Amino acid sequence: MFSSKLRSSLATPSVRRFFSTVTDLQRAEWTSYMASGRGAAALFGTIDRDGDKLVSAAEIHAFLHAVEATDYVLPKAFKTLDNRAEDHPISYQEFQDWLVSATQEAGYVSIKPAYESSKLIGRRAKRTEPYAWNESTMSQSLRRMQYAVRGDVVMKADEMALEGRKMIYTNIGNPHAIGQKPITFYRQVLALCDLPAAKGVDHPSASLLFPEDVLSRARELRSIVGECGTGAYTNSQGLAGIRKHVAEFITQRDGWPAFEGDIFLTNGASSGIEMILNGLISCNSDAIMVPIPQYPIYSALITRLGGRRIGYELDEDLGWAVTKEELQKRLDEAKAQGLKVKGLAIINPGNPTGQVMKREDLEMICHFCNDNGIVLLADEVYQRNVYTDEKEFISTKKIAMESPGLEMLELVSFHSTSKGLIGECGRRGGYFELHGVDPAVQAQLYKLASSGLCSGVAGQLMTSLMVKGPEKGGESYDAFHDEEQGIYDSLRRRATSITEALNEIDGIECQKAEGAMYAFPKLDLPRKAIEAAEAADQTPDTMYALSLLEQTGICVVPASGFGQKKGRVGFRTTFLPPEDQLEEAIKLMASHHKYFCDKYAD
Ligand SMILES: Cc1ncc(COP(=O)(O)O)c(C=O)c1O
Repeated sequence: MFSSKLRSSLATPSVRRFFSTVTDLQRAEWTSYMASGRGAAALFGTIDRDGDKLVSAAEIHAFLHAVEATDYVLPKAFKTLDNRAEDHPISYQEFQDWLVSATQEAGYVSIKPAYESSKLIGRRAKRTEPYAWNESTMSQSLRRMQYAVRGDVVMKADEMALEGRKMIYTNIGNPHAIGQKPITFYRQVLALCDLPAAKGVDHPSASLLFPEDVLSRARELRSIVGECGTGAYTNSQGLAGIRKHVAEFITQRDGWPAFEGDIFLTNGASSGIEMILNGLISCNSDAIMVPIPQYPIYSALITRLGGRRIGYELDEDLGWAVTKEELQKRLDEAKAQGLKVKGLAIINPGNPTGQVMKREDLEMICHFCNDNGIVLLADEVYQRNVYTDEKEFISTKKIAMESPGLEMLELVSFHSTSKGLIGECGRRGGYFELHGVDPAVQAQLYKLASSGLCSGVAGQLMTSLMVKGPEKGGESYDAFHDEEQGIYDSLRRRATSITEALNEIDGIECQKAEGAMYAFPKLDLPRKAIEAAEAADQTPDTMYALSLLEQTGICVVPASGFGQKKGRVGFRTTFLPPEDQLEEAIKLMASHHKYFCDKYAD
């Protein structure tokens, strides 16, 4: 890879000295930069040994070799370096620009090509002068952030849809987008909350149009919202009356008290997760342990906030459970790198993996966090999506309350109106509950919520409805129950049928989807397919997902977008499309798999 000029420069005494004096700090700066996109200046400082604010191309080469970074740097970036005279001094600004191009696609997928070629993007003004705000001056942690669920496979799918192709979107857990109907009771109450009283709850014909329990529920929520109505900001933590509903729901669910003061209403679980990570990560060496595979909001936010992600592997052969040994091993590794593990995320039921966690596993994780001073982040957005009779959802809060020794566990639990049987993703409702958290930190989180003024009122109202449906005996109850049951039964049938059908395809293996909304199959691909992907600078599962998209119109997410064991290849599909469409999709997946394997047969 080196030019002969550079190769000879690597043999000079100064560069040899450089090699032998590489410190752990340099390695740490490099891994920190690669993880967070932050710290280019510190990195430059470790190369610029004499502090003259200039480094040579040979020194950069030597540095990258010494920290074993060459696999992560694009060959073309080495060429750019080689094209410089070996003694051409490189300033920090030049180094930073080079670093951006060098690490652009290394170890991660760039959004840029797919975005720029997308026909869905508006016309942009042509400009010849350089931009002040460009890829090298922008936030580097944002540049390096990855979010596969809406990544390049999905962008390609959107383009194909625009060209008139029939698409089957199974890439995202967005139930209403693919046919799930909203539950009537919710929509009736929401409409009456928004309408002026004279046109809604107080209209002379209101009781002809709306059931009595809808009207009384709407009146209750209207009084919680107050005179100002649904168009005004609320308390930053969310409307107190709605937080009270949430606290009552948790108390009833767990059999242990909850307090409205510990509840924060949020724009979906996403903004709650972001707030908590914001509150936890204070520097590049602060780390959060996340499952592998994981829902990529965790990795995305950790990168963006400049923290470090420590993956712990879920074991596919154990039905995607995690062992204590694995957690301990990853924690020890993090400590050895000088990192401080501040939080650990679990997703129960799992996304993308679909497992429902057992009580003993939850207890083990709670103790692990408690013993090591780690805040446990429990993502429980799929708590109503359990499809097996052998297991039930148990909240992490309940475990904490019932297990001796866990009284001091520092825990944040998240819930959302986007999932369950509601699926109102666009309404952006959700909450988090703090348990055992320092009141001083809680006050700071309140300050953070205040800086965003408040979460959307539509989402707050939806959250109240999620935790407090119509009462038994009320006029709407039976219809509400039937609508919910219909959605649940269908999801349960689809969870079973998709995993069974995938397992029947030769070369595909899929764990049972016990919960959530996803199947996460593993693919056995011919060696030639893996080689072709490598040659195309793609992960094998991205190549597979793009082929599936082009051949069948089915949009899935490559499993590498969630993280997976080295060498594993797979994808994530939701089982949300209506049953007839899902059946068709499975048939297409089977024929595509055969087509793909034949194409690359050894
Ligand atoms: C595990 C998990 N957590 C959080 C979210 C965020 O959802 P929302 O922000 O819509 O509540 C999702 C969305 O798919 C998810 O799967």
